[in-house]
Amino acid sequence: MNAVIRTEKLSKSFGENRVLRDVSLSIPEKSVYAIIGQSGTGKSVLIKTIIGMTAPDSGRVWFKDTELTYLHRDDLAPIRRSFGYSFQNAALFDSMTVGENLAFPLIEALHIKNSREIKKRVAELLEWIELPGIESKRPEELSGGMRKRVGVARALMMQPEVLFFDEPTTGLDPVLSETINNLVVRVNKELGVTCVMITHDIPAAFRIAGRIAFLDQGFIIAEGAPADLVLSDKQMVKDFIRISFSELQT
Ligand SMILES: Nc1ncnc2c1ncn2[C@@H]1O[C@H](COP(=O)(O)OP(=O)(O)OP(=O)(O)O)[C@@H](O)[C@H]1O
Ligand SMILES: [Mg+2]
Repeated sequence: MNAVIRTEKLSKSFGENRVLRDVSLSIPEKSVYAIIGQSGTGKSVLIKTIIGMTAPDSGRVWFKDTELTYLHRDDLAPIRRSFGYSFQNAALFDSMTVGENLAFPLIEALHIKNSREIKKRVAELLEWIELPGIESKRPEELSGGMRKRVGVARALMMQPEVLFFDEPTTGLDPVLSETINNLVVRVNKELGVTCVMITHDIPAAFRIAGRIAFLDQGFIIAEGAPADLVLSDKQMVKDFIRISFSELQT
């Protein structure tokens, strides 16, 4: 397996609160990788530590062959452009139109100045997320689901190699959740982007992820393909799976 991201014994505490404890994982290139677990168990902190938003207390992170952990900011910046994020409350800029929101990373990070080129790329991506022609709308005019998709589109403008989703479907109705989950699959399959997704939607994780990591109080207590997780002997994992899937039948 070619790992696009690898962590080795990542640990992070906030004061007395030990949030990550020796987290070692490998995320295969061009896969969908899900991170699941109870609320407050360190999932978001894990992603933030991987992308360099939060410094670990110890442990290491690699992107392909490059160790990121203690890279200088200047050296980390170009590598971080390979990462895109769609965060829990990844707000679009409310003062800008959808078109301006999408153009923003092109202008600010990629320094593209040709306005025809920018317009073309924005229009193409809006079409790709099946929201063509909404350039002049403002975020407040969009539904929650549309806003999420525009957020994903904005992350895709940078043509990232890895896209991180922190609970992309939380707060959405089941139909919209399905749309977003399908969008994750399309980003992965059609664009070849590795998708790392924190989710509370366990059935969706089992359906679309190649591998799943189960985090509990900062430890990875189970990791593997969905079929492996089902066989886990950890009570917490069993309960989580049983409850998530039995909810489906009610
Ligand atoms: N910047 C911070 N300073 C102090 N404590 C923090 C900080 N960020 C996170 N924490 C703590 O770390 C723990 C894990 O938080 P984290 O956001 O990773 O949880 P999570 O698994 O993503 O939960 P949820 O499913 O609710 O989003 C929590 O106890 C939280 O209070
Ligand atoms: Mg979180």
